[in-house]
Amino acid sequence: MLTTAPRGTKDILPQEIENWRYVEAVMRRICAQYGYKEIRTPVFEHTELFKRGIGDTTDVVEKEMYTFTDRGNRSITLRPENTASAVRAFCEHKLYAEPAPTKLYYIGPMFRYDRPQAGRYRQFHQFGIEALGVDTPAIDAEAILLAVTILKELGLKDLHLKINSVGCPKCRPQHRAKLQDYFRPHLEELCDDCKSRFERNPLRLLDCKVPHDHELAAGAPSLGDCLCEECREHFEGVKKLLTAAGIDFEVDNTLVRGLDYYTKTAFEIQYVPLGAQSAVCGGGRYDGLVKEIGGQDVSGIGFAMGMERILLALESQNLLPEHKDGIDAFIVCPNQDNFELAFKTAIALRQAGLKTEFDFMARSMKAQMKQAGRLNAKFAVIFGDGELERGTVTLKNMANSTQTEIPVDEIVTILQTEVQKYE
Ligand code: HAM
Repeated sequence: MLTTAPRGTKDILPQEIENWRYVEAVMRRICAQYGYKEIRTPVFEHTELFKRGIGDTTDVVEKEMYTFTDRGNRSITLRPENTASAVRAFCEHKLYAEPAPTKLYYIGPMFRYDRPQAGRYRQFHQFGIEALGVDTPAIDAEAILLAVTILKELGLKDLHLKINSVGCPKCRPQHRAKLQDYFRPHLEELCDDCKSRFERNPLRLLDCKVPHDHELAAGAPSLGDCLCEECREHFEGVKKLLTAAGIDFEVDNTLVRGLDYYTKTAFEIQYVPLGAQSAVCGGGRYDGLVKEIGGQDVSGIGFAMGMERILLALESQNLLPEHKDGIDAFIVCPNQDNFELAFKTAIALRQAGLKTEFDFMARSMKAQMKQAGRLNAKFAVIFGDGELERGTVTLKNMANSTQTEIPVDEIVTILQTEVQKYE
Protein backbone atom coordinates (compact mmCIF):
# COMPACT_ATOMS: atom_id res chain seq x y z
CA MET A 1 0.00 0.00 0.00
CA LEU A 2 2.67 2.49 1.03
CA THR A 3 4.71 1.71 -2.06
CA THR A 4 1.79 2.12 -4.46
CA ALA A 5 0.49 5.48 -5.74
CA PRO A 6 -3.26 6.14 -5.21
CA ARG A 7 -5.57 4.66 -7.85
CA GLY A 8 -5.90 6.86 -10.91
CA THR A 9 -2.58 8.65 -10.37
CA LYS A 10 0.69 8.07 -12.15
CA ASP A 11 4.33 8.80 -11.52
CA ILE A 12 6.06 10.46 -14.42
CA LEU A 13 9.44 8.80 -14.34
CA PRO A 14 12.76 10.31 -15.45
CA GLN A 15 12.72 8.31 -18.70
CA GLU A 16 9.30 9.81 -19.60
CA ILE A 17 10.05 13.39 -18.62
CA GLU A 18 11.82 14.22 -21.90
CA ASN A 19 8.63 13.33 -23.76
CA TRP A 20 6.60 15.67 -21.56
CA ARG A 21 9.10 18.44 -22.00
CA TYR A 22 9.11 17.97 -25.74
CA VAL A 23 5.31 18.24 -25.98
CA GLU A 24 5.24 21.19 -23.57
CA ALA A 25 7.93 22.97 -25.59
CA VAL A 26 5.86 22.68 -28.79
CA MET A 27 2.82 24.05 -26.92
CA ARG A 28 4.76 26.95 -25.42
CA ARG A 29 6.36 27.83 -28.75
CA ILE A 30 3.05 27.92 -30.61
CA CYS A 31 1.33 29.81 -27.78
CA ALA A 32 4.04 32.47 -28.10
CA GLN A 33 3.34 32.71 -31.84
CA TYR A 34 -0.33 33.34 -31.05
CA GLY A 35 0.38 35.84 -28.27
CA TYR A 36 -0.69 33.69 -25.31
CA LYS A 37 1.08 34.21 -21.97
CA GLU A 38 1.42 31.61 -19.25
CA ILE A 39 -0.57 31.75 -16.02
CA ARG A 40 -0.17 29.44 -13.00
CA THR A 41 -3.07 29.36 -10.58
CA PRO A 42 -3.34 27.36 -7.32
CA VAL A 43 -4.24 23.68 -7.54
CA PHE A 44 -7.04 24.26 -5.05
CA GLU A 45 -9.75 26.90 -4.93
CA HIS A 46 -12.87 27.65 -2.93
CA THR A 47 -15.41 24.94 -3.78
CA GLU A 48 -18.00 27.59 -4.60
CA LEU A 49 -15.94 28.76 -7.60
CA PHE A 50 -16.37 25.42 -9.37
CA LYS A 51 -19.97 24.96 -8.28
CA ARG A 52 -20.89 28.36 -9.69
CA GLY A 53 -18.54 28.24 -12.65
CA ILE A 54 -18.93 24.68 -13.94
CA GLY A 55 -22.53 24.23 -12.77
CA ASP A 56 -23.79 22.06 -9.94
CA THR A 57 -25.80 19.73 -12.17
CA THR A 58 -22.71 18.62 -14.11
CA ASP A 59 -21.04 15.25 -13.52
CA VAL A 60 -17.81 17.04 -12.69
CA VAL A 61 -19.38 18.94 -9.79
CA GLU A 62 -21.91 16.31 -8.69
CA LYS A 63 -19.63 13.30 -8.71
CA GLU A 64 -16.03 14.00 -9.53
CA MET A 65 -14.66 16.74 -7.32
CA TYR A 66 -12.07 16.20 -4.63
CA THR A 67 -13.63 18.41 -1.97
CA PHE A 68 -12.59 18.68 1.66
CA THR A 69 -12.91 21.00 4.61
CA ASP A 70 -9.60 22.54 5.60
CA ARG A 71 -8.48 23.20 9.15
CA GLY A 72 -9.97 26.69 8.95
CA ASN A 73 -13.37 25.13 8.16
CA ARG A 74 -13.40 26.29 4.53
CA SER A 75 -14.67 24.08 1.75
CA ILE A 76 -11.78 23.57 -0.64
CA THR A 77 -11.68 21.69 -3.97
CA LEU A 78 -8.74 20.41 -5.96
CA ARG A 79 -9.27 22.01 -9.35
CA PRO A 80 -11.07 19.67 -11.76
CA GLU A 81 -10.28 22.10 -14.62
CA ASN A 82 -8.62 25.46 -14.97
CA THR A 83 -11.06 27.73 -16.78
CA ALA A 84 -12.88 28.81 -13.63
CA SER A 85 -9.54 29.46 -11.88
CA ALA A 86 -8.15 31.45 -14.83
CA VAL A 87 -11.32 33.55 -14.91
CA ARG A 88 -11.11 34.06 -11.13
CA ALA A 89 -7.50 35.26 -11.52
CA PHE A 90 -8.54 37.50 -14.44
CA CYS A 91 -11.07 39.24 -12.17
CA GLU A 92 -8.93 39.28 -9.03
CA HIS A 93 -5.91 40.84 -10.72
CA LYS A 94 -7.96 43.10 -13.02
CA LEU A 95 -6.29 41.68 -16.09
CA TYR A 96 -9.15 43.28 -18.04
CA ALA A 97 -7.44 46.63 -17.52
CA GLU A 98 -5.10 45.71 -20.41
CA PRO A 99 -6.39 45.97 -23.97
CA ALA A 100 -8.50 42.94 -24.95
CA PRO A 101 -8.09 40.12 -25.62
CA THR A 102 -6.31 38.82 -22.54
CA LYS A 103 -4.68 35.63 -23.80
CA LEU A 104 -3.64 33.10 -21.18
CA TYR A 105 -2.32 29.55 -21.28
CA TYR A 106 -1.57 26.96 -18.61
CA ILE A 107 -0.12 23.51 -18.15
CA GLY A 108 -0.73 21.65 -14.91
CA PRO A 109 -2.42 18.89 -12.91
CA MET A 110 -6.22 18.63 -12.59
CA PHE A 111 -8.19 16.26 -10.35
CA ARG A 112 -11.40 14.36 -11.04
CA TYR A 113 -12.74 11.38 -9.16
CA ASP A 114 -13.70 9.25 -12.14
CA ARG A 115 -13.37 5.55 -12.96
CA PRO A 116 -9.74 5.19 -14.06
CA GLN A 117 -8.94 3.49 -17.34
CA ALA A 118 -6.45 3.95 -20.18
CA GLY A 119 -6.40 7.70 -20.91
CA ARG A 120 -8.56 8.57 -17.87
CA TYR A 121 -6.98 9.37 -14.54
CA ARG A 122 -7.90 10.95 -11.23
CA GLN A 123 -4.91 13.23 -11.43
CA PHE A 124 -4.23 14.21 -15.03
CA HIS A 125 -2.62 17.17 -16.73
CA GLN A 126 -4.11 19.72 -19.03
CA PHE A 127 -2.62 22.22 -21.39
CA GLY A 128 -5.20 24.91 -22.02
CA ILE A 129 -5.79 28.44 -23.23
CA GLU A 130 -8.32 31.13 -22.38
CA ALA A 131 -8.92 34.33 -24.38
CA LEU A 132 -11.00 36.91 -22.56
CA GLY A 133 -12.63 40.13 -23.64
CA VAL A 134 -13.40 39.55 -27.33
CA ASP A 135 -16.65 38.10 -28.64
CA THR A 136 -16.13 38.01 -32.40
CA PRO A 137 -16.01 34.71 -34.34
CA ALA A 138 -12.38 35.44 -35.26
CA ILE A 139 -11.10 34.67 -31.77
CA ASP A 140 -13.04 31.37 -31.71
CA ALA A 141 -11.54 30.41 -35.07
CA GLU A 142 -8.09 31.43 -33.88
CA ALA A 143 -8.40 29.32 -30.70
CA ILE A 144 -9.48 26.27 -32.71
CA LEU A 145 -6.67 26.89 -35.19
CA LEU A 146 -4.18 27.07 -32.34
CA ALA A 147 -5.34 23.68 -31.01
CA VAL A 148 -5.19 22.08 -34.44
CA THR A 149 -1.77 23.63 -35.17
CA ILE A 150 -0.28 22.19 -31.98
CA LEU A 151 -1.62 18.70 -32.65
CA LYS A 152 -0.45 18.81 -36.25
CA GLU A 153 2.96 20.16 -35.27
CA LEU A 154 3.30 17.15 -32.97
CA GLY A 155 2.69 15.01 -36.05
CA LEU A 156 -0.78 13.69 -35.18
CA LYS A 157 -2.95 12.76 -38.12
CA ASP A 158 -6.43 11.17 -37.99
CA LEU A 159 -7.69 14.15 -35.99
CA HIS A 160 -11.40 14.73 -36.02
CA LEU A 161 -12.66 18.23 -35.20
CA LYS A 162 -16.31 18.52 -34.24
CA ILE A 163 -17.97 21.88 -33.70
CA ASN A 164 -21.40 22.99 -32.58
CA SER A 165 -23.20 26.01 -31.24
CA VAL A 166 -24.83 25.46 -27.86
CA GLY A 167 -26.70 28.77 -28.05
CA CYS A 168 -27.06 31.44 -25.42
CA PRO A 169 -29.47 32.32 -22.59
CA LYS A 170 -31.74 33.93 -25.20
CA CYS A 171 -32.27 30.85 -27.35
CA ARG A 172 -31.77 28.06 -24.85
CA PRO A 173 -35.17 28.30 -23.10
CA GLN A 174 -36.89 27.36 -26.34
CA HIS A 175 -34.62 24.34 -26.74
CA ARG A 176 -35.08 23.46 -23.09
CA ALA A 177 -38.84 23.33 -23.54
CA LYS A 178 -38.49 21.16 -26.66
CA LEU A 179 -36.14 18.81 -24.82
CA GLN A 180 -38.55 18.43 -21.93
CA ASP A 181 -41.40 17.69 -24.37
CA TYR A 182 -39.23 15.04 -25.99
CA PHE A 183 -38.06 13.36 -22.79
CA ARG A 184 -41.30 13.67 -20.77
CA PRO A 185 -42.95 10.48 -22.12
CA HIS A 186 -39.72 8.57 -21.26
CA LEU A 187 -39.18 10.05 -17.82
CA GLU A 188 -39.73 6.76 -16.00
CA GLU A 189 -37.12 4.96 -18.14
CA LEU A 190 -34.36 7.48 -17.40
CA CYS A 191 -31.59 6.97 -14.87
CA ASP A 192 -31.97 8.70 -11.50
CA ASP A 193 -29.49 11.42 -12.46
CA CYS A 194 -31.41 12.20 -15.63
CA LYS A 195 -34.71 12.27 -13.75
CA SER A 196 -33.33 15.00 -11.55
CA ARG A 197 -31.69 16.76 -14.52
CA PHE A 198 -35.03 16.82 -16.36
CA GLU A 199 -36.19 19.82 -14.33
CA ARG A 200 -32.89 21.29 -13.22
CA ASN A 201 -30.92 21.23 -16.48
CA PRO A 202 -32.41 19.23 -19.35
CA LEU A 203 -29.43 20.00 -21.63
CA ARG A 204 -27.41 17.65 -19.43
CA LEU A 205 -29.73 14.81 -20.54
CA LEU A 206 -27.85 14.90 -23.84
CA ASP A 207 -24.62 14.18 -22.04
CA CYS A 208 -25.67 11.07 -20.09
CA LYS A 209 -23.36 8.07 -20.37
CA VAL A 210 -25.96 5.44 -19.42
CA PRO A 211 -26.48 3.49 -22.72
CA HIS A 212 -30.31 3.64 -22.77
CA ASP A 213 -30.39 7.40 -22.05
CA HIS A 214 -27.57 8.00 -24.47
CA GLU A 215 -29.50 6.27 -27.26
CA LEU A 216 -32.61 8.23 -26.45
CA ALA A 217 -30.61 11.47 -26.48
CA ALA A 218 -29.50 10.76 -30.06
CA GLY A 219 -33.07 11.46 -31.28
CA ALA A 220 -33.60 14.57 -29.15
CA PRO A 221 -34.43 17.96 -30.74
CA SER A 222 -31.31 19.70 -31.93
CA LEU A 223 -30.23 22.99 -30.50
CA GLY A 224 -29.15 23.95 -34.00
CA ASP A 225 -32.81 24.37 -34.94
CA CYS A 226 -33.46 26.74 -32.03
CA LEU A 227 -30.51 29.12 -32.32
CA CYS A 228 -31.29 32.84 -32.18
CA GLU A 229 -30.13 35.11 -34.97
CA GLU A 230 -27.05 36.28 -33.07
CA CYS A 231 -25.87 32.74 -32.28
CA ARG A 232 -26.55 31.56 -35.80
CA GLU A 233 -24.57 34.44 -37.28
CA HIS A 234 -21.70 33.86 -34.87
CA PHE A 235 -21.58 30.16 -35.74
CA GLU A 236 -21.61 30.95 -39.46
CA GLY A 237 -18.72 33.35 -38.91
CA VAL A 238 -16.65 30.71 -37.12
CA LYS A 239 -17.29 28.12 -39.81
CA LYS A 240 -16.41 30.58 -42.55
CA LEU A 241 -13.05 31.44 -40.97
CA LEU A 242 -12.19 27.80 -40.28
CA THR A 243 -12.90 27.01 -43.90
CA ALA A 244 -10.76 29.96 -44.98
CA ALA A 245 -7.92 28.61 -42.80
CA GLY A 246 -8.20 25.22 -44.48
CA ILE A 247 -9.32 23.40 -41.32
CA ASP A 248 -11.51 20.32 -41.77
CA PHE A 249 -14.42 20.08 -39.36
CA GLU A 250 -17.72 18.36 -38.85
CA VAL A 251 -20.77 20.14 -37.44
CA ASP A 252 -22.16 17.86 -34.74
CA ASN A 253 -25.45 19.08 -33.28
CA THR A 254 -25.27 16.54 -30.45
CA LEU A 255 -22.03 17.97 -29.06
CA VAL A 256 -22.98 19.65 -25.76
CA ARG A 257 -19.79 19.28 -23.61
CA GLY A 258 -19.88 18.33 -19.94
CA LEU A 259 -19.54 21.76 -18.33
CA ASP A 260 -22.37 24.28 -17.97
CA TYR A 261 -20.57 27.50 -18.79
CA TYR A 262 -20.53 27.11 -22.56
CA THR A 263 -22.39 29.49 -24.85
CA LYS A 264 -22.34 29.59 -28.67
CA THR A 265 -19.23 27.78 -29.98
CA ALA A 266 -18.37 24.36 -28.52
CA PHE A 267 -15.79 22.03 -30.02
CA GLU A 268 -13.89 18.83 -29.47
CA ILE A 269 -10.96 17.23 -31.22
CA GLN A 270 -10.83 13.48 -31.23
CA TYR A 271 -7.93 11.29 -32.00
CA VAL A 272 -9.94 8.29 -33.15
CA PRO A 273 -7.32 5.51 -32.61
CA LEU A 274 -7.40 6.21 -28.84
CA GLY A 275 -10.78 4.45 -28.62
CA ALA A 276 -13.02 5.18 -25.62
CA GLN A 277 -10.99 8.17 -24.38
CA SER A 278 -10.46 9.66 -27.83
CA ALA A 279 -11.18 13.31 -26.88
CA VAL A 280 -7.76 14.93 -26.80
CA CYS A 281 -9.08 18.48 -26.73
CA GLY A 282 -12.30 20.18 -25.72
CA GLY A 283 -13.38 23.75 -25.42
CA GLY A 284 -15.72 26.53 -26.34
CA ARG A 285 -17.05 29.97 -25.66
CA TYR A 286 -18.28 30.98 -22.18
CA ASP A 287 -19.78 34.44 -22.38
CA GLY A 288 -21.57 34.32 -19.02
CA LEU A 289 -18.82 32.86 -16.83
CA VAL A 290 -16.94 35.99 -15.79
CA LYS A 291 -20.17 37.60 -14.64
CA GLU A 292 -21.39 34.38 -13.01
CA ILE A 293 -18.44 34.33 -10.66
CA GLY A 294 -18.81 38.00 -9.80
CA GLY A 295 -16.82 39.83 -12.48
CA GLN A 296 -17.89 42.18 -15.24
CA ASP A 297 -19.77 41.19 -18.35
CA VAL A 298 -16.74 39.88 -20.25
CA SER A 299 -16.83 37.11 -22.83
CA GLY A 300 -14.33 34.29 -23.13
CA ILE A 301 -13.28 31.30 -25.19
CA GLY A 302 -10.78 28.54 -24.57
CA PHE A 303 -9.95 24.89 -24.67
CA ALA A 304 -7.95 22.28 -22.81
CA MET A 305 -6.05 19.23 -24.00
CA GLY A 306 -5.32 16.13 -21.95
CA MET A 307 -1.55 15.80 -21.82
CA GLU A 308 -1.63 12.07 -21.01
CA ARG A 309 -3.92 11.39 -23.97
CA ILE A 310 -1.69 13.33 -26.32
CA LEU A 311 1.36 11.43 -25.08
CA LEU A 312 -0.49 8.12 -25.51
CA ALA A 313 -1.40 9.11 -29.05
CA LEU A 314 2.16 10.16 -29.90
CA GLU A 315 3.56 6.98 -28.40
CA SER A 316 1.17 4.76 -30.32
CA GLN A 317 2.20 6.46 -33.56
CA ASN A 318 5.93 6.44 -32.78
CA LEU A 319 5.95 10.21 -33.01
CA LEU A 320 8.11 10.92 -29.98
CA PRO A 321 11.66 12.01 -30.84
CA GLU A 322 14.52 9.90 -29.55
CA HIS A 323 16.32 11.54 -26.69
CA LYS A 324 19.99 10.77 -26.44
CA ASP A 325 20.71 11.01 -22.78
CA GLY A 326 24.33 11.12 -21.87
CA ILE A 327 27.06 12.88 -19.96
CA ASP A 328 30.28 14.53 -21.06
CA ALA A 329 32.74 12.98 -18.65
CA PHE A 330 32.92 10.14 -16.16
CA ILE A 331 35.81 10.28 -13.73
CA VAL A 332 37.28 6.87 -13.07
CA CYS A 333 39.24 6.76 -9.84
CA PRO A 334 39.95 3.25 -8.58
CA ASN A 335 42.40 4.25 -5.84
CA GLN A 336 40.58 6.03 -2.99
CA ASP A 337 43.81 7.88 -2.08
CA ASN A 338 43.20 9.96 -5.22
CA PHE A 339 39.49 10.49 -4.59
CA GLU A 340 39.80 14.05 -3.27
CA LEU A 341 41.57 15.19 -6.45
CA ALA A 342 38.99 13.37 -8.57
CA PHE A 343 36.16 14.99 -6.57
CA LYS A 344 37.65 18.47 -7.03
CA THR A 345 38.13 17.84 -10.74
CA ALA A 346 34.46 16.85 -11.06
CA ILE A 347 33.46 20.13 -9.39
CA ALA A 348 35.70 22.11 -11.77
CA LEU A 349 34.31 20.32 -14.83
CA ARG A 350 30.73 20.97 -13.73
CA GLN A 351 31.53 24.63 -13.10
CA ALA A 352 32.83 24.76 -16.66
CA GLY A 353 29.40 23.55 -17.81
CA LEU A 354 30.22 19.91 -18.47
CA LYS A 355 27.92 17.08 -17.39
CA THR A 356 30.18 15.09 -15.11
CA GLU A 357 29.76 12.00 -12.96
CA PHE A 358 32.04 9.90 -10.79
CA ASP A 359 31.88 6.78 -8.64
CA PHE A 360 30.66 7.08 -5.06
CA MET A 361 31.21 3.54 -3.92
CA ALA A 362 34.92 2.73 -4.40
CA ARG A 363 34.07 0.27 -7.16
CA SER A 364 36.76 -1.52 -9.16
CA MET A 365 38.32 0.07 -12.26
CA LYS A 366 36.34 -2.35 -14.45
CA ALA A 367 33.04 -1.55 -12.73
CA GLN A 368 33.68 2.21 -13.03
CA MET A 369 34.44 1.89 -16.76
CA LYS A 370 31.22 -0.07 -17.14
CA GLN A 371 29.32 2.66 -15.34
CA ALA A 372 30.86 5.27 -17.70
CA GLY A 373 29.51 3.24 -20.61
CA ARG A 374 26.09 2.83 -19.03
CA LEU A 375 25.78 6.58 -18.50
CA ASN A 376 26.70 7.13 -22.13
CA ALA A 377 29.75 9.24 -21.25
CA LYS A 378 31.63 10.86 -24.13
CA PHE A 379 34.89 10.61 -22.20
CA ALA A 380 36.28 8.65 -19.29
CA VAL A 381 38.91 10.56 -17.29
CA ILE A 382 41.02 7.88 -15.64
CA PHE A 383 42.92 8.79 -12.48
CA GLY A 384 45.49 5.98 -12.55
CA ASP A 385 48.37 5.82 -10.04
CA GLY A 386 51.09 5.71 -12.72
CA GLU A 387 49.73 8.69 -14.64
CA LEU A 388 49.18 10.77 -11.51
CA GLU A 389 52.84 10.28 -10.56
CA ARG A 390 53.62 11.93 -13.92
CA GLY A 391 51.08 14.69 -13.23
CA THR A 392 48.69 13.35 -15.87
CA VAL A 393 45.43 11.43 -16.30
CA THR A 394 44.23 9.26 -19.19
CA LEU A 395 41.47 10.63 -21.36
CA LYS A 396 39.54 7.86 -23.08
CA ASN A 397 37.20 8.67 -25.93
CA MET A 398 34.37 6.22 -25.26
CA ALA A 399 33.10 6.21 -28.85
CA ASN A 400 36.31 5.07 -30.55
CA SER A 401 38.32 3.88 -27.50
CA THR A 402 41.35 6.07 -28.30
CA GLN A 403 43.33 7.10 -25.23
CA THR A 404 45.62 10.09 -24.60
CA GLU A 405 47.50 11.24 -21.55
CA ILE A 406 46.79 14.83 -20.57
CA PRO A 407 48.18 17.03 -17.78
CA VAL A 408 45.98 17.20 -14.66
CA ASP A 409 45.89 20.99 -14.70
CA GLU A 410 44.63 21.04 -18.30
CA ILE A 411 41.74 18.57 -17.84
CA VAL A 412 39.06 21.28 -17.89
CA THR A 413 40.31 23.21 -20.95
CA ILE A 414 41.05 20.07 -22.97
CA LEU A 415 37.70 18.46 -22.18
CA GLN A 416 35.84 21.66 -23.01
CA THR A 417 37.43 21.68 -26.46
CA GLU A 418 36.91 17.96 -27.01
CA VAL A 419 33.25 18.03 -25.96
CA GLN A 420 32.58 21.00 -28.23
CA LYS A 421 33.55 18.87 -31.23
CA TYR A 422 30.37 16.84 -30.56
CA GLU A 423 28.02 19.80 -30.58
P1 HAM B 1 -12.88 18.99 -20.60
O1 HAM B 1 -13.49 18.53 -21.89
O2 HAM B 1 -13.53 18.58 -19.35
O3 HAM B 1 -12.78 20.56 -20.70
O4 HAM B 1 -11.36 18.51 -20.54
C1 HAM B 1 -10.48 18.83 -21.60
C2 HAM B 1 -9.60 17.64 -21.92
O5 HAM B 1 -8.93 17.19 -20.73
C3 HAM B 1 -10.33 16.41 -22.42
O6 HAM B 1 -10.60 16.51 -23.81
C4 HAM B 1 -9.32 15.32 -22.14
O7 HAM B 1 -8.33 15.27 -23.15
C5 HAM B 1 -8.69 15.80 -20.84
N1 HAM B 1 -9.27 15.10 -19.68
C6 HAM B 1 -10.43 15.39 -19.04
N2 HAM B 1 -10.64 14.53 -18.02
C7 HAM B 1 -9.60 13.68 -18.01
C8 HAM B 1 -9.21 12.56 -17.19
N3 HAM B 1 -9.95 12.17 -16.15
N4 HAM B 1 -8.05 11.93 -17.48
C9 HAM B 1 -7.27 12.33 -18.53
N5 HAM B 1 -7.58 13.37 -19.32
C10 HAM B 1 -8.71 14.04 -19.08
C11 HAM B 1 -12.26 21.38 -19.72
O8 HAM B 1 -11.64 20.98 -18.77
C12 HAM B 1 -12.45 22.83 -20.01
N6 HAM B 1 -11.88 23.60 -18.90
C13 HAM B 1 -11.82 23.22 -21.32
C14 HAM B 1 -11.98 24.66 -21.64
C15 HAM B 1 -11.08 25.64 -21.50
N7 HAM B 1 -13.10 25.22 -22.09
C16 HAM B 1 -12.90 26.51 -22.23
N8 HAM B 1 -11.67 26.78 -21.86
